[in-house]
Amino acid sequence: MCGIFAVSGETSDAGMRVLEGLKKLEYRGYDSWGIAVRAPEGHVPIEKEIGKISHVEQVFVDAHEAIGHSRWATHGGVTRENAHPHQVGRVTLVHNGIFENYKEVKEEGPDHAFLSETDTEVIAVMINHLLEEGKSSEEALRTAAEKIIGRFALLVMIEGISGILAARRGSPLIIGRGEEETFIASDIPAFLAHTNVVNYLDDDEMVHIDGAKVQFSSLQTGELIEKRNIEVPWKVEEAEKGDYPHFMIKEIFEQKETIARAINHEDALVEEAIELLQSCNGVYFVACGTAHKAAMAAEYFFAKFSHRKINVVPASEMPSFEQFINEKTAIVAVSQSGETADLLEILERGQKKGAKVLAMTNVESSTIARIADVHLPINAGPEKAVASTKATTAQMAILFLLACADGNRMNEGRQILRSVSGNINDLLNPRYEDLVRTVAQEIMNHSTLFIIGRGSLYPMALEAAIKIQEVSYIHAQGFPAGEIKHGPIALIEEGTACLVLGDDQETLSNATELKSRGAMIIGVSTTQADIFDHWLRVPDCGGAQSIATVVPIQILAYHLAVLRGLDPDMPRNLAKSVTVK
Ligand code: M6R
Repeated sequence: MCGIFAVSGETSDAGMRVLEGLKKLEYRGYDSWGIAVRAPEGHVPIEKEIGKISHVEQVFVDAHEAIGHSRWATHGGVTRENAHPHQVGRVTLVHNGIFENYKEVKEEGPDHAFLSETDTEVIAVMINHLLEEGKSSEEALRTAAEKIIGRFALLVMIEGISGILAARRGSPLIIGRGEEETFIASDIPAFLAHTNVVNYLDDDEMVHIDGAKVQFSSLQTGELIEKRNIEVPWKVEEAEKGDYPHFMIKEIFEQKETIARAINHEDALVEEAIELLQSCNGVYFVACGTAHKAAMAAEYFFAKFSHRKINVVPASEMPSFEQFINEKTAIVAVSQSGETADLLEILERGQKKGAKVLAMTNVESSTIARIADVHLPINAGPEKAVASTKATTAQMAILFLLACADGNRMNEGRQILRSVSGNINDLLNPRYEDLVRTVAQEIMNHSTLFIIGRGSLYPMALEAAIKIQEVSYIHAQGFPAGEIKHGPIALIEEGTACLVLGDDQETLSNATELKSRGAMIIGVSTTQADIFDHWLRVPDCGGAQSIATVVPIQILAYHLAVLRGLDPDMPRNLAKSVTVK
């Protein structure tokens, strides 16, 4: 959570550049924002406010260095005082992460009249105190970092010392190398308009940028580190809304291509992933939120195509099963961002016990991608809307391919997925979107929505619920179709809206049970049935039906949000990558 951005270089509008960069990172946190610049006279003024940075037009002019932050509150409420940057003496800094032991360090530290309730201000106090004791800026940052238990990405400006210092442990930081300027950001899209040449900062490393000069060193020993410049293949347009009103609908429509791209891996890489799975005795698929629902779909893919029973566990529940993790275990991590804290912690602890990690992420520079033994990129391109859409189907496509490859059916798997991709391409057109919008109009004022599905469509019922909840704020709940008669059916009243995923006989019987209690039935299936009050057609995709079924639901969730006057890209209380526990 939180987006951070810095620029140093031959520019006189560093403040505006940080403003533009932060707008591109706003999906990471959007409850308040702040920017600090090094003024020509040497002091460091700050502008910060609560609210979204997208509404801000102008910040300081005339500066060649600036840092900024877009916040998702952890320690301390959403107030101007708690917004970053925080300034103490000569030190101005922004922070993305969690300083777990900040209360102890605050108590032991020098006397200071704190202005905020944040953990971050404690870091600024520490660094300023160390500078007063005569340490150099690098030494001060290193010594302060030693005291921090937790995760951080820090950007620091110090009065009287030119350039910007940055350090990371557990939260992402990427350096963008311009011709005459250097950028530092939580994610590449923030500086993609200026450069696509990057260096990745690893854990326990720091960097000092000063214009085009960049010096990397170890945060532990101070030893200098050499880094390779890497060109990233992302295009600026991929990270922009273009003609679409929101990122969410743009990303839904990008599924015309992303599924095909997701499976465009060399056979050798898929085989390496399979070797890792087959060399282990126990396999745990671990993920959070929507990625967890994609992993649940994989449970069905593996059962059908390779007759393997896999374990699928939400990362936050994994501690109860960690006793089973050892050097013969494979942990398969599924994550769009590759930074999700609950998941990262399980992987780090698993690796300490000797487990192997196979990761699927959408961000090759992410921490999870970088610590994995084998990484399969999902290649969906930047996903900016908080609600995951194109990354979900890309994850499911790779998981499907993996299951087929595990059952020695890789070619068949690719063939099925190519036809899924073609079918989704045909489905995604304005006429179909209009049809889904009509259904959204029917249910937009409902306060509750139930979704049922059987087999591989059961995880999609859960995914549908997440998608609808997070963007439309309607109480949506998913169930295995056969389970409703064991309790949830008591909630059905005249007119209760129920989405029924699939058209197999048993699911239709369950739908009939709902309908006879007054439910309004919306079928999402390949064929129409008499009991459907409304029908959203899904192309027939055989064993990969769940991948196609999720698409109309994404469109429905999007239009429910828009019709209810909400911003689907930035739902309340959420952030795109959840880097706190
Ligand atoms: O980046 P990750 O895939 O690890 O994120 C996991 C969840 O936080 C994420 O899927 C979340 O549930 C989405 N907002 C759902 O659309």
